Amino acid sequence: MVTTATAGRGHWGSSLGFVLAAAGSAIGLGNIWGFPYMAAQSGGAAFVLVYLLCVAIVGIPVMFAELSIGRASQRNPVGAFRRLKPGTPWWLVGALGVISGFVILSFYSVIAGWTVGYLFKAARGDFAAGLTIEQSRSIFETFSGDPVMSLVCTAVFFALTMLVVQGGVHAGIERASRILMPVFFVLLVGLAVRAVTLPGGYAGVAYLFNADFHKLSPQVVLNALAQAFFSLSLGMGAMITYGSYLSRKENLPAAGVTVAIADTAVALLAGLMIFPAIFAAGAEPAGSVGLVFHVLPTVFDQLPAGRVFAVAFYGLLVIAALTSSISLLEVVVAFFVDELGMLRRTATWLIGLACFALAIPSAISGAFMDRIVVIFYNYALATGALGICLFVGWAWTPKAAIEEMQAEGQRFPGLGLWGVLIRYVCPPLTAAILYLQISDSLG
Ligand code: TRP
Repeated sequence: MVTTATAGRGHWGSSLGFVLAAAGSAIGLGNIWGFPYMAAQSGGAAFVLVYLLCVAIVGIPVMFAELSIGRASQRNPVGAFRRLKPGTPWWLVGALGVISGFVILSFYSVIAGWTVGYLFKAARGDFAAGLTIEQSRSIFETFSGDPVMSLVCTAVFFALTMLVVQGGVHAGIERASRILMPVFFVLLVGLAVRAVTLPGGYAGVAYLFNADFHKLSPQVVLNALAQAFFSLSLGMGAMITYGSYLSRKENLPAAGVTVAIADTAVALLAGLMIFPAIFAAGAEPAGSVGLVFHVLPTVFDQLPAGRVFAVAFYGLLVIAALTSSISLLEVVVAFFVDELGMLRRTATWLIGLACFALAIPSAISGAFMDRIVVIFYNYALATGALGICLFVGWAWTPKAAIEEMQAEGQRFPGLGLWGVLIRYVCPPLTAAILYLQISDSLG
């Protein structure tokens, strides 16, 4: 047992375990239904290029910042800022993160609950051949509009999340990620290969990647940046929390880059799975909810072994959502364990139940859910990310963070450049997303 002040907090068993858990957090609904749709709508390959730049110039630097804050402090987001800059109000950035984790989990798990419900429907063979888009939409509306059904699915999903988190960092989160993430990758690659090689599937690849530089605008660039934050689980201390369980022996930047590359690769593969399947079946693409819950159910039975495809697809979504919601819950649990000295098990069930209560209005009312999505997805993450950049760039200083990243003689190229990015480049770009989103919603 560890005997320092961090005793009993838990830690990762290996670097692979950490990378799988952090990739599990990053890879989620945002990759599978958020990214492909956004890319196809906003200029295809041109958007992909912009997105890659956002990940490289802002996403990875903020990832390094969060992981260093976490590992240097060995604390939850609130305790981390307190420990690195005691007696200053920086802990408020962490507090915003903990609150965001709680609220995001509430609506995220409602959508995740739908994926659980659709996994059952797929297994039962509900998506029969000849289903029209109108029928499919009305199946979804009946399903998601039924409060009991929605709540049961959300509750099942919550229970799974809590079971993993109460098991602890190593025996719960890491162990689950070690099993789930490889299954996820196999399913994703299998489905993508199958979809692209279907007759007519190539049209989907062309649809996704057809480069249209005229669609790029400042708004699209900032959308790409906001998507990069969400997709990489940045801006609310999830990576601070996961970093706090890392040992100083690990090469922190190398692990962070691996996670970012895996997350981005999955987003691209998700597009290569979804659009070719839709085009091969002669269907039309739609928006994100529409894509996954309206269009795809009409598609499966037109493909060879469609039922297997459907079960694999919704199974993959459940896994993606689960490993992400685990990290959202873990941020809040870590706060209660570190700051209030609560037992992990007690904290997990208490917070889980409270969050489920907050999920009820989202499960019942789409309008309620839309409102909190806007506040937390659009504002809270960008505000948190801005706070993190300013903290590392100007308060804690890049020098201290680089020392942390180079602990025990670890080396990684380009950390000097990283210091410049986190100080001068990331803050204005992040502030720009916030400005645009606020002026957008006021105008
Ligand atoms: N990254 C996840 C996705 O792509 C969502 C998510 C999980 C998240 N944890 C987070 C987003 C923390 C922001 C912060 O779906």
